[in-house]
This record gives sequence, C-alpha cells and structure tokens, in this order.
Amino acid sequence: MSDSAFRIRLMEGKDIPSVVSLDRQVFDDPWPESAYVQEIYFNPSAHYYVLELLDPARTRAWYGHRRGRSARLLGFVGVRVEGTRGHISTLAVRSEWRGERLGEVLLLTSVDQAIRDGAHVVGLEVRVSNHVAQALYAKYDFEARSRLQRYYANGEDALYMQVQVRADPGTHQRIATQLSALLEELEIDKSATP
Ligand SMILES: CC(C)(COP(=O)(O)OP(=O)(O)OC[C@H]1O[C@@H](n2cnc3c(N)ncnc32)[C@H](O)[C@@H]1OP(=O)(O)O)[C@@H](O)C(=O)NCCC(=O)NCCS
Repeated sequence: MSDSAFRIRLMEGKDIPSVVSLDRQVFDDPWPESAYVQEIYFNPSAHYYVLELLDPARTRAWYGHRRGRSARLLGFVGVRVEGTRGHISTLAVRSEWRGERLGEVLLLTSVDQAIRDGAHVVGLEVRVSNHVAQALYAKYDFEARSRLQRYYANGEDALYMQVQVRADPGTHQRIATQLSALLEELEIDKSATP
C-alpha cells in the first residue's frame, strides 16, 4: 500500500463514468463517454491521466477539513502528440480541490509526456474568459499565439496558447525536475505511470 496522499495514473475504462461526471460539472461543452473511449482505447497518440485520492484518512489533516472533499477522482488531463506537436486536449480539477497545485502537477504531467513522445511544441485552446487557466499556462511559459473566433459552442473565442519545449536541451530536464519536486511536495504517487 502506498504512503502517498494521491496518485496519478493512466486513465482506464473503469474511470470513464467518473471522468464524464466530472467533465459535466466542470465544462459547458463536456465530452460524451464515446470520446473518452475513443481516446483511451483507439488513439495511440493520446495519453490520458487521472488524479485520484488514495485514502482520505491518509491525506494531510487540513485537506480533510474542506467541505465535500470525499470524491476519489480529483482531476484529469489528456495530451496527444502528432509528429513534433503536442496538444493538451483537456485538463480539469474538481472545484473543491482547486488552489492546491493539483492543476499544475497535471499540466506538468502532460507536458512531460508530450516531450517524451517527441513534441517540440505543446499547445492548447482556452476560453478567452478563462483567466485562471491562462495564468496557469503562462506560469509554464505558454504564450497566446492566435485567437480562434467563435471556437466554442456558445460563440466564445479561444486563445491558442503554445510553449516551445525543445528550445534548449535543458528544457525537459527542468520540467521533469519541477514535476518531481511537486510530486514529492504534494505526496503524489506516480510510480505506476510509464
Ligand atoms: C484551471 C485549473 C485546472 C487549475 O487547477 P488548480 O488545481 O486550481 O490550479 P493550481 O492550484 O495548480 O494553480 C496553479 C496556477 O494556476 C493559476 N491559478 C490557479 N487558481 C487561480 C486563481 N483563482 N486566479 C488566478 N490564477 C490562478 C496560478 O498561476 C497558479 O499558480 P500560483 O499559485 O503560483 O499563482 C482548474 O481551475 C479547473 O479545473 N478549472 C476548470 C476547468 C478548466 O478551466 N480547464 C482548463 C481548460 S483550457
């Protein structure tokens, strides 16, 4: 049994109902179950991860005092790599668990995976109104490269944000080091992840 508070591991079929439920809570335009089935079973260029609470009793005492913090699935992230381009397709943290750097560790997990799959750049779309997510991406050097008009179903524009991850040979080492430090600090087990 792990001593960690949380675990990051690859998304499996058994996770899909919880992932779809969280997706519906978080996004205005959630994905159907079939989209996750397609991604995790049939898309060899995709990697989806879940962040789960291993055992509420083992988390640090202050986590447990927050209301509603009992769900096991706390967040997820997906990344696809085609050629030298990585694309983060989704990222979410359960609302009661935000502000604990869990979004950060999921983002770094996906960027680290993209680099290991050969990405030279990693990009994503984000709502122009989503300043929280934009701040997270900017913290890791993502820059807005273009504005996609009426990208979302409600007519909102997207920003396409991108980070160069092969600008110098030290970039992957720096991201891997940041990820390791966060995993250790937050007591997250990622050992089951390739
Ligand atoms: C975006 C999201 C994943 C961030 O997750 P989180 O676990 O709350 O974020 P973290 O605690 O890891 O915060 C990391 C950074 O994000 C930014 N951030 C987080 N919360 C913020 C807030 N309330 N206001 C401004 N910036 C914020 C900051 O840059 C922060 O770093 P800092 O603390 O050093 O300033 C989460 O808010 C979420 O799931 N939102 C809904 C879904 C979504 O918008 N997904 C992205 C779609 S493109």
